Amino acid sequence: MQEQKVLITFFGATGDLASRKLYPALFRLFQKGFIRNHFAVIGTARREWTDEYFREVVVKSVQSLTEDVNQAEEFASHFYYQAHNVTDTHHYVVLKELSEKLDQKYGIEGNRIFYLAMAPSFFGTITQHLKDEALLTENGYNRLIIEKPFGKDYASAQTLNEQLRHSFDENQIYRIDHYLGKEMIQNITAVRFANRVFETMWNRNHIDNVQITLAEQVGVEERGGYYETSGALRDMVQNHILQILALVAMEPPQSFEAVRQNKINVLEQLRHYSPEEVSKNFVRGQYGPSLDGNLPGYRQDQNVSDDSNMETYVAGKVFIDNERWKDVPFYVRTGKSLDSKTTVIDIVFKEADSPLFEAETKGKCPSNRISIHITPKEGFCFVINSKAVGNSYGLQTSHLEKIFDKIFGLNSPEAYERLILDCMEGDMTNFTHWEEVAASWKFVDCIRQAWDNEASVQFPNYPAGSSGPQESFDLLAQDGRCWVQK
Ligand code: BG6
Repeated sequence: MQEQKVLITFFGATGDLASRKLYPALFRLFQKGFIRNHFAVIGTARREWTDEYFREVVVKSVQSLTEDVNQAEEFASHFYYQAHNVTDTHHYVVLKELSEKLDQKYGIEGNRIFYLAMAPSFFGTITQHLKDEALLTENGYNRLIIEKPFGKDYASAQTLNEQLRHSFDENQIYRIDHYLGKEMIQNITAVRFANRVFETMWNRNHIDNVQITLAEQVGVEERGGYYETSGALRDMVQNHILQILALVAMEPPQSFEAVRQNKINVLEQLRHYSPEEVSKNFVRGQYGPSLDGNLPGYRQDQNVSDDSNMETYVAGKVFIDNERWKDVPFYVRTGKSLDSKTTVIDIVFKEADSPLFEAETKGKCPSNRISIHITPKEGFCFVINSKAVGNSYGLQTSHLEKIFDKIFGLNSPEAYERLILDCMEGDMTNFTHWEEVAASWKFVDCIRQAWDNEASVQFPNYPAGSSGPQESFDLLAQDGRCWVQK
């Protein structure tokens, strides 16, 4: 393990994401020794906080991770606060002075990460100033981490990207998709490529369909305002779902460096739909109040309009137009306020059609399947057929399951912890390249436009706490299939 030398400047340091995810992630890196003596953090935001108050917030944000108050305080002593108006040039001058002072004090050698954890509308302004006011160093690295959403469609994403590119090269821009930091998402690559039994069968000859489910039990909570502009399609499909799909479907990379290019290739091969095809292949939903009246509907949220037609649920059938995946449907779905939190990928193989079992199975043995459980269960389930005990040659289906226990869960790094460390180490594998973002938006834009032009939609169409709209189940039923996970 190599101790990292780095100055991290957080824009949006007083926000929820910073205290819920980012400071705890840094603290875990501190506990493990990845950062120890040669690091400093500058928090900036509009509010007028003092260093002391900022450190109190930081200590509080990590208190569940340690019983050692001294350790938390020592960590927090590396944090500095600078009130900041992102449009005021003078503030960048002050920020530069502070950065240089901390660089000297902690022996950081010019390595800088700028983390933008705030509204994307300010990204361009901030990055321009960072360059103009010479906050980028000559002697170390300069890296930019940005949170989603990266635009709201292809055109706005492109504008945003051009703004960033005035100051940072593509190989300095780390676009976060926190799903790529999850242990089990990273495991997709291992399952596929480290097992001959799967890799040789990972294609249209053997796979019948792929299902990606990102179901959430929570509703939109306090984010109704943002969600009104995003909906499930932009919030979950454009990024997390398509990223997972790309990892499942990409061609075998020859090195980790090649992963992103192979994902780009898949995303560029997604079949784009005409409006008529959208209505055949994609369905949407919005939750109403739960049947028992205990859970509110989406439209009851105070930041959501009474007649909002924004979708909180999406299910769709996606095709990848290449040799490996020709005609193999990838069914995807995501929604809020469902009956459970389930993030899982199911790879459903074609049925074996052995004449030996014809009488028992009417010519079709049950499908084999490998399920990769991401959350809340973490692990695998491999479904195979074997002989049923007894005198006949009947079959029974067995679930060979490996679910990792809590100990593993505790030791496995949190997504943000892993991603921030990757950034310090200059490893871009688990960050999305601009070409991935661009291809994903182009695919999603076709769906969004078709929906925006549709005359009417019957919302709400599923009760909070249910398994989602009937249309989602019909989508697979019309192909003679069903969702593996109920
Ligand atoms: C975020 C979305 O990107 O992912 C949220 O904006 C969603 O709406 C969240 O709740 C889900 O992430 P996770 O890690 O809890 O599955």
